[in-house]
Amino acid sequence: MKITECSVVEDTKVKIQFDDGKILTFEDCWLRDNCRCPVCYDANLVERLAHIVNFPDVRVKNIQNLQTRISVTWTDNHVSTYDASFLSQFDFKIWEQSRRLSPVLWKGSEVVSKVARVEVDKFLNTEEGTKEIFQSLLDYGLAFVENVTPTIEATEVVCNALGGVMHTNMYGGMWTISTNLTEHSDTAYTNLALKQHTDNSYFSEPAGLQIFHCIEHNDGTGGESIFMDGFYGAKKLKEEHPKDFEFLSNFQLDAEYIEDGHHFRLLAPVLKVNKFGDVVHLRFNSYDRTPMAFADGEECRSYYRSLKNLAQYFEDPQNQFVIKLQPGTVVAIDNFRVLHGRAAFTGKRILCGSYVRRDDWTDKARVLKLIK
Ligand SMILES: [Fe+2]
Ligand SMILES: [Zn+2]
Repeated sequence: MKITECSVVEDTKVKIQFDDGKILTFEDCWLRDNCRCPVCYDANLVERLAHIVNFPDVRVKNIQNLQTRISVTWTDNHVSTYDASFLSQFDFKIWEQSRRLSPVLWKGSEVVSKVARVEVDKFLNTEEGTKEIFQSLLDYGLAFVENVTPTIEATEVVCNALGGVMHTNMYGGMWTISTNLTEHSDTAYTNLALKQHTDNSYFSEPAGLQIFHCIEHNDGTGGESIFMDGFYGAKKLKEEHPKDFEFLSNFQLDAEYIEDGHHFRLLAPVLKVNKFGDVVHLRFNSYDRTPMAFADGEECRSYYRSLKNLAQYFEDPQNQFVIKLQPGTVVAIDNFRVLHGRAAFTGKRILCGSYVRRDDWTDKARVLKLIK
């Protein structure tokens, strides 16, 4: 990448033309703030050293085209150089779009042929295997790791490779769900059916991934896992009930979780939407909704209408992916997107797993260069 021309325009901007024909204009304050000299920036730490409070009121005195970089002398005589390849990244439209995720929406069992199923050795020991799993999580919010020893210890190794076990004061790290244990006052710890939900709607930072491994199911039937692409449901709501979509992206729903010694509570919208209109975070848990006071009758009626309309997509069997988890198969699901539930069951069933923070699994995906 080379610079063919550079000049100061309107006293406060620098216009740069690159050899591919692209022209970018930078404000002088941006250039000074992003000075890469060792006084302003530590290249080893990849951190800015200059503080905004000391930001000088300066103009460009002189600019020089060195082809692969430009040199700027400022009115306070500070000198900055910028590589052409550094500057060329800041084409707003490309920069903005490069940060946008592109989930592939799905409904029902069609996802089974698309989602990654990777042998545990390949996942843990090869970049190809790791990439396959993380790409599947980014695309479908779902991935399977196969042939895992059905123990808590072996499952923990997989959880760590997916970003690390998320520790919470209430649930600890690795958890085990069994009908023999009544550790928490939660429907999950019974043998009842569970309707589609995301976990931790009462946390300001809900689990990023939910990881399940059914390590034992003896002398009984049922207990199938049910998954549903929440972003697909939200898209249908936007198409068929746009007013409800609008309501759920603005209204602050009250969710809470209470047990002995714990009381979590949070107000947050069901649908978090970014500036492109993409849903980026779904919180949906009918078990954790709490009685609310409403501004008026219309708000109250909108709340029930829109939640019911959204839930209908989630509970439509055509939209659900049903799978009986077997010992050896670990499933990871994106708890910001994919809902989970289960059928009622009989017999002894032991499920183990953990949560992984969203920052921790997307960190792995970014290091693998799957996202920016
Ligand atoms: Fe759950
Ligand atoms: Zn500098």
